[in-house]
Amino acid sequence: MVEHRVYQALAQPVVGHLDPYFFEVVCEVRELLRNVFGTRNEITLAVSGTGSSGMETAVGNFVEPESKFAVFANGFFCDRLTEMGKRQGANVVRLEKPWGEVFEADEAADFIDREKPDVVAFVHAETSAGALQNPKPICDAAHQADAIVIADTVTSLGAVPVNVDENGIDVAYSCTQKGLSCPPGLSPITVSPRAADRLKARKTPVREWYLDLKLLIDYYDGRKYHHTASATMFYGLCEALRTIMDEGMEQRFERHVHAHKLLVKAFVDLGLTMHVREGHRIPNLNTPRVPVGVDDAKVRKHLLDHHGIEIAGGFGQLAGKIFRIGLMGPLATESNVEFFMEAFREALGR
Ligand SMILES: Cc1ncc(COP(=O)(O)O)c(C=O)c1O
Repeated sequence: MVEHRVYQALAQPVVGHLDPYFFEVVCEVRELLRNVFGTRNEITLAVSGTGSSGMETAVGNFVEPESKFAVFANGFFCDRLTEMGKRQGANVVRLEKPWGEVFEADEAADFIDREKPDVVAFVHAETSAGALQNPKPICDAAHQADAIVIADTVTSLGAVPVNVDENGIDVAYSCTQKGLSCPPGLSPITVSPRAADRLKARKTPVREWYLDLKLLIDYYDGRKYHHTASATMFYGLCEALRTIMDEGMEQRFERHVHAHKLLVKAFVDLGLTMHVREGHRIPNLNTPRVPVGVDDAKVRKHLLDHHGIEIAGGFGQLAGKIFRIGLMGPLATESNVEFFMEAFREALGR
């Protein structure tokens, strides 16, 4: 759900991609992104494109051909990271778990110790399953092995603390359309000084010209034309970030947890089971299991046709097994939970 004031910002007059006013907005966006990422990283910017462009920027700049890339694989987006790593010509190794489970500290340490990778990647909030991975054990183990860590924070940023510096994440990327409550179109990314040193030491040129971080830094720092970034999208993101600052990040995170707890309680009261065990759930992406005998597509169609509510179903190994219910940004309130549950009960016939 997009904030009303973000829609208003999107309607403001367009300036050019090298206009001094455009760079004023870019500077504010970069500073506010540092706040939501929880970092002081100088290299913090927004790539033109959706969340996948951030993923490709991270993999394309930091995973070199012939290098070893270790992926913690517990969902669909980990598979996408794997595919991108393979396309870079890296030797990709994976530690696999069923979708919905997370990795414990000893598992992370054993895997990294055994494989000795150059780069490690994990998905903080795996949208395909609803599991929230604790970044710290993975980052600690990776740093012990002198590897850098890429974290996918597409679903977490803005709704869940990411704490890039505290956790030791080297490269985190996200999107605008989830926890930041903006339309899709930009991909925030942040890069630690350690990872920046790796980039400087790269032996081969980055294959993706459009996503080459050195060129993007020349554009956003050096104000040198690289591509025609959308002023409109930057206005929207800037306003979305200001909205988060106005509410206060702690308050925003607590609001999401509060709404999530109410929703989970309502599911349990209805006899549903959550797919992810307590303590590892993404507050803004809830995944109750589809009750036996229920056709999830019919429930979703009923919600859309009769109430204008769109929820998602499971896919891959969770097809037909879970519902995926976003409760993000302005949507994460008590009254929206009540509104949703009334419609959901009706759709389930309970
Ligand atoms: C965890 C995760 N990573 C990456 C992506 C890809 O983002 P996009 O669809 O914005 O390209 C998504 C999209 O839902 C996601 O949930």
